[in-house]
Amino acid sequence: MNSMNRPKSLAKPLVVDRMSKSFGAVDIMLDLNLRVEPGEFICIVGPSGVGKTTLLRCLSGLAAPTSGQVTVGGEVVREPLDEIALVFQDYRGSLMPWMRTLENVTFPLQGRGIGREQRDRTGMECLAAVGLENAARSYPWELSGGMQQRVAIARALAYDAHILLMDEPFGSLDAQTRLGLEDLVLDLRKRLNISIVVVTHDIDEAVYLADRVVVLSGRPATVVDTVTVDLGLNRDQLTTKSDPRFVQYRNRVLKEIMQ
Ligand SMILES: Nc1ncnc2c1ncn2[C@@H]1O[C@H](COP(=O)(O)OP(=O)(O)OP(=O)(O)O)[C@@H](O)[C@H]1O
Ligand SMILES: [Mg+2]
Repeated sequence: MNSMNRPKSLAKPLVVDRMSKSFGAVDIMLDLNLRVEPGEFICIVGPSGVGKTTLLRCLSGLAAPTSGQVTVGGEVVREPLDEIALVFQDYRGSLMPWMRTLENVTFPLQGRGIGREQRDRTGMECLAAVGLENAARSYPWELSGGMQQRVAIARALAYDAHILLMDEPFGSLDAQTRLGLEDLVLDLRKRLNISIVVVTHDIDEAVYLADRVVVLSGRPATVVDTVTVDLGLNRDQLTTKSDPRFVQYRNRVLKEIMQ
């Protein structure tokens, strides 16, 4: 079954339990705890080099914690799982230039023994979810940067993941495209029953997207604050960002990062 028509009950909590991570003698993260509820939108912010990408790699099973653990629905994550998808910052490196858009979205499904017809149907559904059904026959190099990142998101949806992890997904896009993709991701979250974790440098973006903003700081990094953003599910770029509560949340996070 695909994320498009997944019932609510399949979503599982993602839990980081007293996780520490070192590279050689260098301690990067210490005793980190984090819980992502099914359907929740979490943004992680923190200064450059604090360990945000390392944390996402551990969440996705691409890297192993030095101690502590990551679980999904109570199962320890030891390797990349179908239910967790990771979208990287650099869309240019994540799409295959010789494959058309539809094939870029569906090729991970080939390894699962899913027939061509069903793969294409799922791929088209996922492309439609990101508004790209008309670009199915194009090659990545025929698409704009924002469109390429939407293809990468469609591929993550096709994996049938119910947890979508994104590492600075809009970092290399122009401001207007970025705002459009923020709204696309908010919309996907509302329509599909998925949990989303976005790492971003942009504090406005974090507060705009998240139900909770997790602030990482220090070396080794710990969670210095978790800000619950009580701005509802229906957000828009103009009204939400000029809401006095938005400004308060933003200033609180900014102060913590600057300290
Ligand atoms: N495979 C590795 N081996 C050794 N050190 C590493 C490795 N991966 C990351 N590091 C170190 O861990 C620290 C955290 O890196 P990470 O990429 O997680 O930070 P980040 O918060 O994502 O930074 P940025 O905001 O610049 O993307 C850095 O000091 C980095 O040099
Ligand atoms: Mg990073």
